[in-house]
Amino acid sequence: MKSTAIVTGAVSGIGKAIAGRLVNDGFFVVLADLDEAKGASLEKEWGKDCCKFIKCNITVLSEVEALISSACSINGSIGVLVNNAGILSDNVIWKMDPEDFDRVINVNLKGTWLMCRAVASGMKEKKDGRIINIASRAWLGNPGQSNYAASKAGVVALTRVLALELGKHNVYVNAVAPGLIDTPLTRNLPEEVLKKLVEAQPTRSMGRAEDVAQVVSFLASPSTQFITGQTLYVDGGRSIGAGI
Ligand code: NAI
Repeated sequence: MKSTAIVTGAVSGIGKAIAGRLVNDGFFVVLADLDEAKGASLEKEWGKDCCKFIKCNITVLSEVEALISSACSINGSIGVLVNNAGILSDNVIWKMDPEDFDRVINVNLKGTWLMCRAVASGMKEKKDGRIINIASRAWLGNPGQSNYAASKAGVVALTRVLALELGKHNVYVNAVAPGLIDTPLTRNLPEEVLKKLVEAQPTRSMGRAEDVAQVVSFLASPSTQFITGQTLYVDGGRSIGAGI
């Protein structure tokens, strides 16, 4: 029987590439997202024998619990959880509304926390599981992203704590920190801004969603052992160097 993997934010950008990659790796993938139309069309395209779309807002406890219970009904347990759903709402702090702070923290950090909490007991009891949290290089600090960077710093801290809490139960928890990746999220940036961001990259290029999926596939694989609590950067080298 296929092991079940849940991917949040699975119908767009990085999440879609991760979900597709895990389907190819042989997982049964539960596509969790808000977007029903895209979810239904992906389920049709990839086939009901390898994936299932479940509508879920990861910030709502009852929806998270219903998602986990439906996903468990497929083969009794969850092997892999990929917390990918995330949003942006950028501005310098003096122009940012408290609502923009709450919204971003709520999806990126609290939603990820609720999902981790919902799978932890099952993985602990089974003594098997992988949790992979999609953070961002922005957690290192990025002007205009006080809400987003704080949420992703929280995701890195959450990853490290859960690795400590769950390690003895054979549950590995890691984070992946993408840099500039070509997705609908970044395609919405003004052309000039995007140009400057690409020029600042050591590789002078953007990454592809598939580059992130490759690392998630590695961390989700049963043959990857003894790596937990880590944050792996997929950012074309942007996180290194003193920056002067
Ligand atoms: P995207 O905007 O293309 O996709 C995000 C998906 O999450 C959408 O399908 C959306 O419907 C879903 N979503 C949003 N709120 C949700 C909620 N409350 N419950 C369930 N689903 C929800 O974004 P992209 O670019 O693919 O980003 C994916 C992840 O990667 C995010 O966590 C983002 O912060 C992170 N990331 C992206 C980078 C980039 O350059 N694109 C760089 C670094 C990190």
